[in-house]
Amino acid sequence: MTPKSYRLTWAKGKANLAWLKIDNLESFYHRVRVLHGLSMQVEKGDFVSLIGSNGAGKTTLLRTISRLVHGKGKIFLDNEELIHMTPKEVICRGVIHCPEGRMLFPNMTVRQNLFMGAFLREDKEEIKKDLERVFDYLPVLGQRPKQMAGTLSGGEQQMLAIGRSIMAAPKLLTLDEPSLGLAPLVIGSIFEVLHTLNQRGLTLVLVEQNAWLALEQTNFTYVLEEGHVIKQGPAKDLLEDPSIQEAYLGMT
Ligand SMILES: Nc1ncnc2c1ncn2[C@@H]1O[C@H](COP(=O)(O)OP(=O)(O)O)[C@@H](O)[C@H]1O
Ligand SMILES: [Mg+2]
Repeated sequence: MTPKSYRLTWAKGKANLAWLKIDNLESFYHRVRVLHGLSMQVEKGDFVSLIGSNGAGKTTLLRTISRLVHGKGKIFLDNEELIHMTPKEVICRGVIHCPEGRMLFPNMTVRQNLFMGAFLREDKEEIKKDLERVFDYLPVLGQRPKQMAGTLSGGEQQMLAIGRSIMAAPKLLTLDEPSLGLAPLVIGSIFEVLHTLNQRGLTLVLVEQNAWLALEQTNFTYVLEEGHVIKQGPAKDLLEDPSIQEAYLGMT
């Protein structure tokens, strides 16, 4: 996969044009600061990954963008400041978070879970079309709309979590470790879906523990450690970077 050319454009000094622009972000759990002045940018149409060891702040960053964690600093989406918004306001602007652990409603059906994703929407016709799109992208859901979510396999539950996010009409979809606990074959189908969504114009920011997977599957990667970005670059460049190979890819 070749990194997209606009990445190269703004990497040469046009960062002010970035679509999602995070500047000097600090995040807090009560008074404990977990992100320490983090900055990053995402362009429309990007497929960005965040890697870093456990506790680096990846989940906190996604949850701060979605306004679920208290933050200070700047988060601009399309020149609009999100930092003072409520989670609902951010969702209404198309920033949708697919959380770690999927967070489905196990005693509700596939179809009911999907409609939960659309709970803030009123455009009934578009919701119907999105349901058809979800069944098209994720046929496994279309085959059993009445099955209880709790009885699906891990991979199917992850598909459902992604489907529910699509029902929220995302412009920017953030995903927290969708591959966690899944077999390689299933992970492969999840990434196929993500690539399809990305090719249809959806911007994706993905947290991924498996650095190989992140670097092979996405265009641009940020490496987080202790609440800072310690490295960033086109994923294919980081794959060749000896310090990344040693620290994150198990190569010596
Ligand atoms: N709800 C919470 N309350 C207090 N501290 C938290 C909470 N969630 C995460 N942390 C702390 O924030 C830091 C970053 O965590 P997290 O964002 O979950 O990292 P990652 O997703 O990269 O593993 C860690 O030190 C973690 O212990
Ligand atoms: Mg995490």
